[in-house]
Amino acid sequence: MQADIGLIGLAVMGQNLVLNMNDHGFKVVVHNRSTNKIDDFLNGPARGTDVVGAYSLEELVNKLESPRKVMLMVKAGEVVDHYIEKLIPLLDAGDIIIDGGNSLFTDTNRRTIYLAEKNIRFIGTGVSGGEEGARHGPSIMPGGNKEAWPYVKPIFQKIAAQVDGEPCCHWVGENGAGHYVKMIHNGIEYGDMQVICEAYHLMSQGLGLEPDEMQGIFSEWNKGALSSYLIEITANILGYKDEDGAPLINKILDTAGQKGTGKWTGMNALELGIPLTLIAESVFARCLSAQKDERVVAAEILPKPAVKFTGDKQTIIGAIHDALHASKIISYAQGFSLMREAAKEYQWNLNYGEIALMWRGGCIIRSQFLNDIKKAYDKQPDLKNLLLDDFFVDAISQADAGWRKTVVQGIELAIPTPAFGSALSYYDGYRTARLPANLLQAQRDYFGAHTYERIDRPRGEFFHTDWTGHGGKTASSTYNV
Ligand code: 6PG
Repeated sequence: MQADIGLIGLAVMGQNLVLNMNDHGFKVVVHNRSTNKIDDFLNGPARGTDVVGAYSLEELVNKLESPRKVMLMVKAGEVVDHYIEKLIPLLDAGDIIIDGGNSLFTDTNRRTIYLAEKNIRFIGTGVSGGEEGARHGPSIMPGGNKEAWPYVKPIFQKIAAQVDGEPCCHWVGENGAGHYVKMIHNGIEYGDMQVICEAYHLMSQGLGLEPDEMQGIFSEWNKGALSSYLIEITANILGYKDEDGAPLINKILDTAGQKGTGKWTGMNALELGIPLTLIAESVFARCLSAQKDERVVAAEILPKPAVKFTGDKQTIIGAIHDALHASKIISYAQGFSLMREAAKEYQWNLNYGEIALMWRGGCIIRSQFLNDIKKAYDKQPDLKNLLLDDFFVDAISQADAGWRKTVVQGIELAIPTPAFGSALSYYDGYRTARLPANLLQAQRDYFGAHTYERIDRPRGEFFHTDWTGHGGKTASSTYNV
């Protein structure tokens, strides 16, 4: 019997996806560059399954039913191109290559077009959920050449996480749309993690709470509006004891790593001109954390105000909860706004409700909250900004006072809250009818004759003033990027 799908790359995600496919009755043939990994897998985790090995790409291709489906679970970047080039001469017209790594969406755009010219269909798909998700049901975000989707859909929708009988996997859109949505997912993941870290920082350094106490708080929070995978694992992490019985969290070095997807999200937001402040701050917070040696020196040199927390702890814990909730709403509102702009810019027909559904289960940002987002887009598919949906209007106004109190508390105690604070600034800016950009325009016009529009004249008419009396009358051009 020929195999349903081939998979190249037997690192942990690849192995677990294969086992997941096998559990659902699909026959999988596997290949890995170091072939000893194939034997280790077949004699280890895949022992007793129907999975078969292929020790060369020729063998892999020959073992596949037509149209062949070959999934790459290899490092994003050049390795993907390397395998594509090796596979092209071995495949027939109509065969399908799937890239399941965290590839940059512009690479996926390029690969889809390149392979279509060679009559090979390409799918670039986000796969989220880490080891556990891959094994028991990830969230899968496929895009690329839509002709390939009917062949891949039965496999992907079966192995994906299921919530209320719905698979967390839907076709996202043309070319790099799937990888784009996965990139936004990762950006939101960065934001969710950062706001949780800020809550933890305020509670540990500001209020002096011990990990066990915070474990209790996060467990409690996990029962309400904040209920999510990341809050749940945070509670578990805080409760985890090292071999000596002390909380492991206190022994972990405070320098964050990153593989780049959050940075890409921020760069794309700058490119498209959409304020994505919370995610951008989350990336920068990781960068600042990585400057450990410099921070240690600065901590000796730069005096910190000797302020101690004196208020009621329960009240401020409630306020931190609200800050987390409101900031999270801002982060998703910003992320969905960016997707909206991207859909326009790259001509994708993104279905925001479906994206929320895909993220409801399986992935790292899975949460209750995504149901509310889905409902908002069901009510109004062309919603401009999530903040304008009734449910979120209420939720954020209820959190408003606590959110402000939290940011003020952070400022007083000299505990940084870049995500809470920037989210609040965005919120206050977004709902401000008149911002100080009148002054900014005047400054631009003053020094560079960049012109301005007037509130007492129709939009699109541009004016230049000779501010000093000895400037010229000639305005510069009015183009905007
Ligand atoms: C997921 C994760 C996954 C990976 C992150 C980690 O959805 O399963 O997002 O893709 O764990 O890319 O990213 P950093 O190393 O950048 O934190």
